[in-house]
Amino acid sequence: MSTLSADTATRKADRSFLPASQSRLERLRDGFHQIRKFTSSLCATLEPEDCVVQSMPDVSPTKWHLAHTTWFFETFILKKFLPGYRAEIPEYAYLFNSYYNAAGDMHRRDLRGLISRPTVSEAQRYRASIDSHIDDLLSNAGERLLDDVEPLLVLGMHHEQQHQELLITDIKHVLAQNPLYPVFRQRNGDVSAKKIAPIQFIDFEEKVTEIGDDGDGFAYDNEGPRHRALVPAFSLATRPVTNGEYIAFIEDNGYSRPEFWLSLGWMTVNEQRWNAPLYWIKRDSAWWNFTLSGLRPVDQSEPVTHVSYFEADAYANWAGGRLPTEFEWERAAMNSPIEGNFVETELFHPASVALASDFSAERPQQHRTLFQMFGDVWEWTRSAYSPYPGYRAAPGALGEYNGKFMCNQYVLRGGSCATSRTHIRLTYRNFFQPEKRWQFTGIRLARDEA
Ligand SMILES: [Fe+2]
Repeated sequence: MSTLSADTATRKADRSFLPASQSRLERLRDGFHQIRKFTSSLCATLEPEDCVVQSMPDVSPTKWHLAHTTWFFETFILKKFLPGYRAEIPEYAYLFNSYYNAAGDMHRRDLRGLISRPTVSEAQRYRASIDSHIDDLLSNAGERLLDDVEPLLVLGMHHEQQHQELLITDIKHVLAQNPLYPVFRQRNGDVSAKKIAPIQFIDFEEKVTEIGDDGDGFAYDNEGPRHRALVPAFSLATRPVTNGEYIAFIEDNGYSRPEFWLSLGWMTVNEQRWNAPLYWIKRDSAWWNFTLSGLRPVDQSEPVTHVSYFEADAYANWAGGRLPTEFEWERAAMNSPIEGNFVETELFHPASVALASDFSAERPQQHRTLFQMFGDVWEWTRSAYSPYPGYRAAPGALGEYNGKFMCNQYVLRGGSCATSRTHIRLTYRNFFQPEKRWQFTGIRLARDEA
């Protein structure tokens, strides 16, 4: 294992997981257990058979997520800081390393579904064992050791939250392959026609804007350095694009009109034979979609989700707009509260946009408000995922966390219904290749200055 410096991928320890009234030790220990427990709770309705399937190379089996997040704490904390620590099963280091070349060799990502051993219960035992070693380490740690361990532990907690989201989107893809359409979480309520508020655009003047992490709390290294960016005048939609609006694009033959598509997107649509977002199927001329609560009629008032960058861009062209840049998004969201439909609501699905009946004539400012900037669906931006000016990935294994992926991907902002509320930030940069659709990805339109 190469050198791991505590300040590699983190800036400052997060204080937001638990109340500030607790001691640092209590806060770390409770925050750690709370996040580990939440991962387990996500698996409560899954059977072992569900937890071993890999439905495509991008998807990891649930069992792998359970073990890989555990490997992270073992590799980057216990092996370095717990005196005399010896891995019970050293081969796990090979099986559960994801992509950290500096931490050693690893098993092939696309073959994770072929690994029947360790079993799911052995993976759970691995989790329990590492958790108790972390407890031992923390309970005997003095302030100086805590100074070293805290940034790595906090990074490990954020890493686990990222994998909680992947666990949810991966199990959705797994269950979607099953013609029985298994239910991950029961949800009541019918889909009924609702009158939604029309989309509005808010104008923003040209401005030199401070972009990126301001150093106040945890951030990934890719959110810095903070720098100034000129953001020309633009306007941004008050809410995400809905399923109903997206159906209008489909019905206008959006998927078969090359004029709306990037060349690579057009190639992909034809090769993949896409004619709707992922998980949509047409039955008796009505659209249905597979959700984590089973197969349901498409609700026209919900933000459209599971669309690729190519589809988001084509829709925007069809609608006479464009996708925002990540700088426009960050500038616009600066005053938006970080609240919304996150994983904590346990809906595991985007919630409806505001209905016409939610607006009152006495409060005209409602029409000038940005809704659902955080939660529900990740919003594709037209910004390539590239380093901010002055960015340098740190040396060592944890320097591999973000920097080496800055090629051929696009930035998404705002988090989704599968993201933790304590994980997302204004400056958070998610990134995926433009053809990926299995995350909760959606569309918010922007326009150039009128
Ligand atoms: Fe990971």
